[in-house]
Amino acid sequence: MSSDVTLIDPLEGPIRGTTRVPGDKSISHRAVLFSAMAEGTSRLSGVLDSADVNASIEAVRALGAQVDLEKQADGSLEGTITGWGSEGPKQPDKPIDCANSGTTARLLMGVLAPWDIQVELTGDSSLKKRPMRRITAPLMKMGVRFEPAGQELLPITEIGTPKLRAINYEAPMASAQLKTAVLLAGVYAQGTTTVKEPAPSRNHTELMLPEYGVPTTASSQTASVKGPALMQASEVVVPGDPSSAAFLVCAAAIKPGSDLTIENVSLNTARTGFVRTLERMGADIDVVHTGQEGKEPNGTIHISYTPVLRGCEIPAQHIASLVDEVPILSLVAAHARGVTVFKEVGELRVKEADRLAATIEGLAQLGIDAWEEGNDLYIEGNPDLVVAPGLTFESYGDHRLAMTWAIAGLTSNVPVEVTRFGSVAVSYPNFLSTIQGLAR
Ligand code: S3P
Repeated sequence: MSSDVTLIDPLEGPIRGTTRVPGDKSISHRAVLFSAMAEGTSRLSGVLDSADVNASIEAVRALGAQVDLEKQADGSLEGTITGWGSEGPKQPDKPIDCANSGTTARLLMGVLAPWDIQVELTGDSSLKKRPMRRITAPLMKMGVRFEPAGQELLPITEIGTPKLRAINYEAPMASAQLKTAVLLAGVYAQGTTTVKEPAPSRNHTELMLPEYGVPTTASSQTASVKGPALMQASEVVVPGDPSSAAFLVCAAAIKPGSDLTIENVSLNTARTGFVRTLERMGADIDVVHTGQEGKEPNGTIHISYTPVLRGCEIPAQHIASLVDEVPILSLVAAHARGVTVFKEVGELRVKEADRLAATIEGLAQLGIDAWEEGNDLYIEGNPDLVVAPGLTFESYGDHRLAMTWAIAGLTSNVPVEVTRFGSVAVSYPNFLSTIQGLAR
């Protein structure tokens, strides 16, 4: 057990009012990386200021992009990035440290693919345990070299090539990081590069590349890009992150008396599976579309405390649309009547921590019976769930587990302890003060 423990007191009252959440992490990473690849100066606003996005910013700086982003009063980053365009990135003088960020490491592999430089990618102890062959394998088919060849774990050195081959790739798993890495390499390959997925994953790359002058074609499980194309500077306004909103929304669903509205959040359906799941559980939730930035829809989510929630089954085809929300939805399922089943969630084992094992472990501490069968997660809820005093939850340094277990305490009547709570800086640095502020 880690010695870095934070005491989380129960909230003073119900979660009420109207708020916003920080910028979307996936869109922020892409805005930073695509702007660095493009010719000219892009203008970005609403960018998430967090440890993960910072890893992408520092990476593109080390590769020669000029990043001038400044912190705004609302906590977001705004400003410009001048990309390397047709000149390409410069050879960095040391390894690129992607910290805890899988998105940085995996997307960078696609970004670097067309350039004849040698770049060593590394990360923190969690990232160095996460699988990379799912990205290096298709890129090797396109002509990229990696050293050591075929290695699963970082550190890995990439040696790109200007002679990339377009490929038609059947992805073994629904992963937007994999799809994006291959499509980004495909921008520079001769011909059409296509990725076919077993289930639809988030589509921010397909929606955003055309904003940078690169046409894409996409249906729900196939995306293509025709190369070679030159990326041109663009303007991106990043909406609020639905994955961060999910923590406040789920907390409000289980905290008596709550009534919460979250404005300016991305309502991209590839990301709002948690809203549909809460609807199916009977939660009093609704969404209103208010606008669109580029091709990304955004709007408002409204949720009220729901005394009676029902368990439900989430089919495999829908998992990617809520993949980062499984831990917090599992906590809601723990409060619901009946069994909730998340089908085919094996990918949770290779997130920032083993979220499948950690979720089952944390729910067991709450006295909830949860188990895995094959790659499915089962949770037997208890509408009368009462959190016992004196619990310590292990976050394993994973931001989404840290927020999930904090909410177990925040919405109950006794404090809980959460290890390595500081990991929330990866995606939602002000999570605790925001939720406490809404409960006063
Ligand atoms: C992300 C894709 C997902 C998600 C991650 C962000 C992205 O990962 O879990 O937090 O921005 O493309 P996978 O591609 O591994 O499913």
